[in-house]
Amino acid sequence: MSRKQKLHEPLPLDFDDVLTAISDEQRPAETSFSARPFLKWVGGKRSILDELIRRLPTTYTTYCELFLGGGALYFAVKPALAYLSDVNFHLIVTFEAVRDDVEGVIRELTIHSAHHSKPYFLEGREKIFTETDSTKLAAWFIYLNKTCYNGLYRVNKAGKFNVPMGSYKDPTILDEDNLRLCAQVLKNADIRQHDFAQKKPQKDAFYYVDPPYHKTYSGYDGTGFGDEQHKNLALFCRKIDAAGGFFMMSNSDTPFIRGLYDGFAIETVSASRSVSCKGGQRGKEQELLVRNYE
Ligand SMILES: C[S@@+](CC[C@H](N)C(=O)[O-])C[C@H]1O[C@@H](n2cnc3c(N)ncnc32)[C@H](O)[C@@H]1O
Repeated sequence: MSRKQKLHEPLPLDFDDVLTAISDEQRPAETSFSARPFLKWVGGKRSILDELIRRLPTTYTTYCELFLGGGALYFAVKPALAYLSDVNFHLIVTFEAVRDDVEGVIRELTIHSAHHSKPYFLEGREKIFTETDSTKLAAWFIYLNKTCYNGLYRVNKAGKFNVPMGSYKDPTILDEDNLRLCAQVLKNADIRQHDFAQKKPQKDAFYYVDPPYHKTYSGYDGTGFGDEQHKNLALFCRKIDAAGGFFMMSNSDTPFIRGLYDGFAIETVSASRSVSCKGGQRGKEQELLVRNYE
């Protein structure tokens, strides 16, 4: 544990970013009017949000989430200053469109809601790869996410979205109020599409690191996330630590992952998982949380 004292020291006055998300008292309370993730996402962290929030650093500058997915922790924390990234192009275009043109996204989703059917869903699976307008692409992405099997995002070798339609009676395709709340939260967020390793670690920034689980579902974009990527991520977390940043990493509890983070604070919490290594299974599993601070 290299940063034990850090949290209780005053921050220097000359840091690059504006101080944000200072303490529990300043964090907005969860209410029914709070923004919730507008996407279902495999590996989404809603089931362990309380555990994650309890373990956030007391002080930090920018909130960085480099494996954004549905952004469950981000929407719960609502940091004033955020850097959000993911390798998934469609996901990032969608977040940008909700931030920049939420009314346009709502308008398009109104059309999709009215036309929802199996043929329309199949049309959407094609459209998402040919659409050049980002607002329309975002609406197709949200529509597919709400109507496909388990909200899964999976592409085949040719890069085509190939998840079948889910068997929902009346899926909620459009939640206008929540989309507008999400747009407000996202207003000042810096949103980028890239690999986690492309972000240069910064002093006093907080990194929530939530990669595809080791040894379970990792097919979000067709390239997977294997042992090599987990090793690279552990090196990246050590760079965050060396730069004077804070990281919290969640993952499956395997000896391999524990070995990679030897020397940091390692804990387990109980989490509900919707996709396991056998695919499509649900259940409670132990989730590993690793931090470089207390
Ligand atoms: C477990 S999910 C994140 C879930 C998210 N925390 C939530 O609450 O919904 C993992 C995410 O990592 C992304 N991802 C996979 N490989 C990546 C890489 N090399 N760099 C950045 N993101 C990656 C996937 O697209 C996926 O969205």
